[in-house]
Amino acid sequence: MRNIVISGSASGIGHACLERLEAVGDRVIGIDIRDAEIIADLSTLEGRQRAIDEALKLSGGEIDGLVLSAGVSGMQHPGDFTVSLNYFGSVELFDGLRNAMEGRPNPCAIGLVSNSSQFDIDYEDPMVLALLDGDEDTCREMILELDRGAGYRFAKHALARAIRRRASEWGPLGVRINGIVPGMTETPMVDALQEDPEVGPMLDLLPIPMGRKGNAWEMAGVVKFLLSDDASYIHGMMMWVDGGTDAAIRPDRF
Ligand SMILES: NC(=O)c1ccc[n+]([C@@H]2O[C@H](COP(=O)([O-])OP(=O)(O)OC[C@H]3O[C@@H](n4cnc5c(N)ncnc54)[C@H](O)[C@@H]3O)[C@@H](O)[C@H]2O)c1
Repeated sequence: MRNIVISGSASGIGHACLERLEAVGDRVIGIDIRDAEIIADLSTLEGRQRAIDEALKLSGGEIDGLVLSAGVSGMQHPGDFTVSLNYFGSVELFDGLRNAMEGRPNPCAIGLVSNSSQFDIDYEDPMVLALLDGDEDTCREMILELDRGAGYRFAKHALARAIRRRASEWGPLGVRINGIVPGMTETPMVDALQEDPEVGPMLDLLPIPMGRKGNAWEMAGVVKFLLSDDASYIHGMMMWVDGGTDAAIRPDRF
């Protein structure tokens, strides 16, 4: 039986992953701020450390899959909380649990990025570089100078690069690491955004060639594939699952 650790397992994409993986016989260890086997606030250093310690204990130190889905949209939370949870709440779990994946057959770690990680981003932006440098206190101060949505976009952009930067080191250890890049997906997070008087109407302007939002079940299907033997050579990659939004916005970039 595989041990799969999932953050954000109480809702949306993380919960759909839990359901789909348990249905095929995996032992899923959920981490969330509520309704999970491990209760931890991943926006804090202490919460992340507790999550890592408990996941190691509950898995017996053997983890086959790690799916980091805990996150907030950034609209209902201050920017410093958003970068702490969405960026540091993922990279610290990747690094804290990697050892437990080494030596397992075909282990894989997956981060939930976002197609907004490419919206209006300067790859050399000081905020992005500060996140990649890993000084959380500095990042929390810097983000408060920026607009409401910036914490989310910057955190997701840096998360994608943190994943890709790990590929060279993790590959020789036999541990795959990848990102899933969802577009608009029907979950409680997007329901709340849709109701926001400022953000809701902007969401409706995003092109979706497939003509509809995605759903959590579809995202979990891609997670299930990336964790499978069929994906054994997929490493260091961003898997876009956005109904064509990115292709519509940036048809000549990939
Ligand atoms: N829904 C979308 O359209 C969409 C698009 C792109 C990326 N994403 C990303 O996918 C991931 C899942 O999003 P979702 O739509 O399923 O959202 P969701 O709100 O349904 O689920 C997020 C989960 O994170 C948990 N969480 C929140 N704060 C936490 C904290 N401090 N510590 C631990 N857990 C905490 C919540 O309790 C919840 O269970 C997020 O990282 C999100 O940024 C979602």
